[in-house]
Amino acid sequence: MNNPIIVALDLPSPQKALKLAEELAPVVGAFKVGKQLFISGGPDIVRKLRGTGAKVFLDLKLHDIPNTVAKAIQAATDLGVQMTTVHAWGGTPMLAAAGNAAHEQTAMLRAEPPLVLAVTVLTSMDDDTLAELGIGGGVEEQVLRLAKLATGAGLRGLVCSPQEIKLLRAELGDEVQLVTPGIRPASSKADDQKRTLTPAEAIEAGANWLVIGRPITGAADPKAATIGILHSINPELVPEGERPEPIPEVVDCAECGQSLKLDATEQATGRYHCPYCDKDVVHNSG
Ligand code: C5P
Repeated sequence: MNNPIIVALDLPSPQKALKLAEELAPVVGAFKVGKQLFISGGPDIVRKLRGTGAKVFLDLKLHDIPNTVAKAIQAATDLGVQMTTVHAWGGTPMLAAAGNAAHEQTAMLRAEPPLVLAVTVLTSMDDDTLAELGIGGGVEEQVLRLAKLATGAGLRGLVCSPQEIKLLRAELGDEVQLVTPGIRPASSKADDQKRTLTPAEAIEAGANWLVIGRPITGAADPKAATIGILHSINPELVPEGERPEPIPEVVDCAECGQSLKLDATEQATGRYHCPYCDKDVVHNSG
């Protein structure tokens, strides 16, 4: 199993994003560069992130005429990104042009083409929003329709919400790559995400990649948070040199001194949320 964590670098400046990326590169699968970071940091931030050795997911959700999208995908391919996004609403000609552009641009170099992912229905949209646009049948039906359109046009991956993983996996089989935001470790707050799954639940449901932002970028120790998430999915995903010394099953909270019983992940990572003082504690450094 590959490291499935894609850290969403939704940070206010390219400098901050790069600093965090340098710290996290050994323990993540990829970094996501969204519109905010790309508009502030440009292609240069993508090149610098690639320089950390990590994969880059350039999430610009392209939607335009086929020729324009194809040229943009060519440019993203030249930048060396491993994943990028288009809106499935662009229709078959645009989706096929995007997939072909990625393949054609890498064929000469005999390199792996970037995974062009289709975004179906944004999670900010509901049945009413779709009805206003003249689309009946509701979100689920539309997600499935667009997902089939995208794979039928030759795309190999989709961005989907945690609620859609099982349905899409069942309908589209094992080959399609599913990339899922809306992930929250059991101990994290939901922020503005409404229907979340834990990392282990999302992988169990059939996700290939997990897009995780604030539970990592907003953590007191982002690298330790990432290692904790990896461990909760599969302890073997934690690179050997990054495995902390395990701590005992019963410890006194390093912050308030109350006696606590820890689960296997908490013991292995030395991190836990203390229900008595309501703090996230890193025991080893506490
Ligand atoms: O901080 P958080 O883990 O919520 O970040 C999730 C990332 O995934 C953000 O970059 C957000 O824009 C993106 N995303 C999402 N929900 C979607 C699509 C993308 O949260 N439906």
